[in-house]
Amino acid sequence: MKRFPTLTVSNHPLIQHKLTYIRDKNTPKKVFKELVDEVGTLLAYEITKNLPVSAVQVETPLQTTTCHVIAGKNVVLVPLLRAGLGMVDGVLNLIPNCAISHVGLYRDHETHQPVTYYFKPMPEPTERMFIMVDPMLATGGSAIASANLLKENGAENIKFMCLVAAPEGVEAFQHAHPDIEIFAAALDDGLTEDAYILPGLGDAGDRLFGTK
Ligand code: PRP
Ligand code: URA
Repeated sequence: MKRFPTLTVSNHPLIQHKLTYIRDKNTPKKVFKELVDEVGTLLAYEITKNLPVSAVQVETPLQTTTCHVIAGKNVVLVPLLRAGLGMVDGVLNLIPNCAISHVGLYRDHETHQPVTYYFKPMPEPTERMFIMVDPMLATGGSAIASANLLKENGAENIKFMCLVAAPEGVEAFQHAHPDIEIFAAALDDGLTEDAYILPGLGDAGDRLFGTK
């Protein structure tokens, strides 16, 4: 039995290569942001591999043939503010038509509990796949609260994408939401007393937005 049955860690060489430079504290802000986007694109490719398709007829220059297109309503990207914004462009490169439903929350620095300050729900939630994006899954509090919000508003098909996950966060998230698959570029060692991921990449929001 796998310890984390809902977790998929991508060991694709391109993802691992880019993650190395994302972790490096000497990587400049501009490059950091570009790499976060690029890994977002690569993870989105993995995460959407089972999207339903429907058959359409297409006329090539030589004959009519049956091809396939993504079926159903647009995928919804759910960036967890702020740091989740850093992966939005990367996913949009791959899925330009996806809708974006922002969730605003931050971790209280004393309690490490998430505080929600914004949420934009989507119409027709049962018809859509929701992809939550956040570079970091630390204690899991932010991701759990966001998934709760989505479910309270009717979402049934949700996935979660992050760069770096801590075992504590994966454990908590899979306990709260055993139906939501997690896709990560790395499963790290654990958390500091301040609930930072080790080895991690530091504070993702601060590095993306230059706030430290
Ligand atoms: C970071 C990160 C996650 C959260 C993860 O956001 O982007 O949302 O912490 O921690 P958790 O798993 O323990 O909840 P932060 O609260 O620092 O806000 P920010 O994105 O606005 O910087
Ligand atoms: N949030 C971050 O940005 N980094 C961590 O290591 C943990 C939570």
